[in-house]
Order: sequence, then C-alpha cells, then structure tokens
Amino acid sequence: MFKEKTIVVGVTGSIAAYKAAELVSQLKKKDANVHCVMTKAAQAFLTALTLRTLSQNPVVTELLAEPQRWEVEHVGLATAADLFIVAPATANILAKVCHGIADDFLTTAILATKAPVLFAPAMNVCMYENPVTQQNLARLKELGYFLVEPEEGDLACGSQGKGRLAKLEHILARAEELLVRDKPLQGKKVLVTAGPTRESLDPVRFLSNRSSGKMGYALARQAHLWGAEAILVSGPTDLAPCPGVHCIPVETAEEMYQEVMKHAADCRIIIKAAAVADYRPKERKEEKIKKQAGELVLELSRNPDILAELGRRKQKGQILVGFAAETEKVLDHAAEKVRQKQLDFIVANDLTKEGAGFAADTNIVTFVFPDGSRKDFAKMSKDEVAKAILEEIVMRMDKE
Ligand code: CTP
Repeated sequence: MFKEKTIVVGVTGSIAAYKAAELVSQLKKKDANVHCVMTKAAQAFLTALTLRTLSQNPVVTELLAEPQRWEVEHVGLATAADLFIVAPATANILAKVCHGIADDFLTTAILATKAPVLFAPAMNVCMYENPVTQQNLARLKELGYFLVEPEEGDLACGSQGKGRLAKLEHILARAEELLVRDKPLQGKKVLVTAGPTRESLDPVRFLSNRSSGKMGYALARQAHLWGAEAILVSGPTDLAPCPGVHCIPVETAEEMYQEVMKHAADCRIIIKAAAVADYRPKERKEEKIKKQAGELVLELSRNPDILAELGRRKQKGQILVGFAAETEKVLDHAAEKVRQKQLDFIVANDLTKEGAGFAADTNIVTFVFPDGSRKDFAKMSKDEVAKAILEEIVMRMDKE
C-alpha cells in the first residue's frame, strides 16, 4: 500500500522525536518514497543526518534554504505528497496549524498541501489535557486533519498519563487507511446545503432557527475526502469549512435558492441538510422597529421550497437527498416529504431525542425511501451519519 507513495514525515521538538527514525525506517521498508522535514526544535533531539540516512533523501530543515535540485521547496513537496505524517506532533505545531500559522517549512507545507495530514501528538500530560490543546485538536479534526491519539503511560518528564506517542503500528495502520481510502466520489460534483437561514425583520433583528450547520459541514467534508468536488452553500454558522470544499456563504432562503439553482444542474448529487426558513417577514423595515403599546403582529411571506423545486427539475441520474427534522410523527412526515419532493431518500431525525438534532455532535437517523422502506441507525457522530449517507448514495449509483 505504501509502495511508491510519497510520504512527508514532519518531525517536531519532542523527546519522542527519536521514534520518528523508526517510523521512517519502516516506511522505507514498505517501499514508500519518504521525505523528512524537521522543525528547529526537532533538530535538538535528533539529527538530520539520521533521517537522511534512513530516508535516503535530503532532509528539509529550514524554510528559506535554496531550492535543491530534487525540488523540495515547500510547494513542490506539498504537491507531490500523498500523505503527511507529523510524528511526534507537539502542542506547538498543533496550535500553529490550527490557526494557519506558516512560519517554517513544515507549517508552510502543511498549509499548502491538499494531501491528508496525520498528526501523532506526543507531549506532557498536562499540556495534552490543557483545554487549549484539546480545543485545537477538536478544531483540527473539524478542519479535516487526522489524528492518532497518544497513549497513556510513563512520560519522559516523569509524570504519568496520556501523552506518549502512539505505537508505530497504530500510526502506520492509520496512514495506510488514509492511503488506501478509495475515492468513490472521484469526478463527481456534490452540492450540500447547511446551517440555518436568516430572514431580516429590521437592521438589527432576524428570524432564524437553531441549526448549527454541523451535519451539512460533515457531509461536505466527507464528500471531499471521498474524492468529490464539494460545494457547500451555507447559511450563517460558527463553523469553518474543510479545506478543499468550495463554500458559498448565504444568509436568506432566497439567496440560498439562487445559489443552489446556479449549481444544481451540474451536480450529480445534492444533499439538502440546511434548515431553511419557510417564511420571511413580509416587509423588511429600513429602521429599527420601535416598541409600541399593545401587541406587535408580524406578517410573513412564504419562502421558496428549494428542495421541492430541485425535485421538479431533477435530471436523470441525479441523486437528491433531503432531511426531515421533526418533533412528532417523524416517519409519517418523512415519508410524505420524500414523495412530495421527489427525493431518492430522506434522512429523518427526531429533534426531541437526546443526542439527535441541531446543536448536538451526534444524530439518530432513519433513511426513508419513496417505496415506504426504511433503514434505522443507532446514535452516531455526525461524521458517521455523513459517511452512512454517502455510502447509501454510492450504493445507489453503483446499481445504475
Ligand atoms: N427545504 C428547502 N426549502 C425550504 C424548506 C425546506 O429546501 N423552504 C428542505 C430542507 O433543506 C430539508 C427538507 O426540505 O432537506 C425538509 O425540510 P423541513 O424543514 O423538515 O420540512 P418542510 O418541507 O419545510 O416542511 P415543514 O416545515 O412543514 O415540516
């Protein structure tokens, strides 16, 4: 699996840096083409000569070095790489990548690459457990980076706990997974909508809903990882799209409608995870609405039903998937929507269940098909739900 693959091994300044030598040696034994990049701090723990000897390639140790004849300037290596493995990864490199800092060769190459990047953290347990590091790790995952968790045990600093570099076999297994990961959506264009829409009442107020966008973002990220050209039309959220996903921010249902229709005809797969507002204020006031005696009655106008329109315009071979977020008679409503909107299937979830719905990181879903059949799933992370949806889509495409 590693044969002839170009793997960049980034080594950062941790006492576990010596283990990178064994990692490089094992990758070479598997016939990978290994290029090592060392940060300045890593060079205090391990010599470049060791990695050069083991990788049989020059080792990059600084950003502004003259480009070498083997073309290891950062963009060259970033483009050539099939996979980046950063092992050991310090709290510092995790923080830098998380925030897009590119102040040495390794961080610059990571920012420039489209290859998967796998981090194997190693550090003192308190540094690892520090909420800042934990937040950075969570954010990196959201951004589409991969992690091999450190192990528990005796740490070089004398303390005990989580922070030891993962076993090399685990790092290699994860790396292999990322390399073999087939790309079943290669060459396919996938359109995903996500988040809520916002319908303005006046310059300071709007009508909206509790959608966090997590489900749609997870779908766009997975579609991208599966090789698709992913377009994400997103209402306002606090999330950052995964690098490589083309994100089009919108605010209102009308704007979402326009953007979706612009791209829909070119897309083989459309998944509508957005919680679109069905109504907008009939009138958007130019000035802030002032309070007055008595009640205020708002008049609302219907927004376009984007998914229903997509169903009407559906092209041959196009796959259309919707969501049905319900609070009662979940499956009945979902079955009605899947037929009305001419979908291939609808992902129903009961917003009243614990661990399902808008803000949660998990979801409990049932796929409902137009013929009345359905598939139930246990509680899963939104990433897993995204994978299950894409698997169902790939299976249906294979049957065609
Ligand atoms: N949807 C849409 N445009 C709308 C409303 C909904 O594209 N104006 C899509 C959603 O993205 C979702 C599906 O339709 O994929 C179902 O949305 P949902 O809010 O559950 O149902 P509605 O069709 O709006 O019906 P109701 O609000 O009456 O339950």
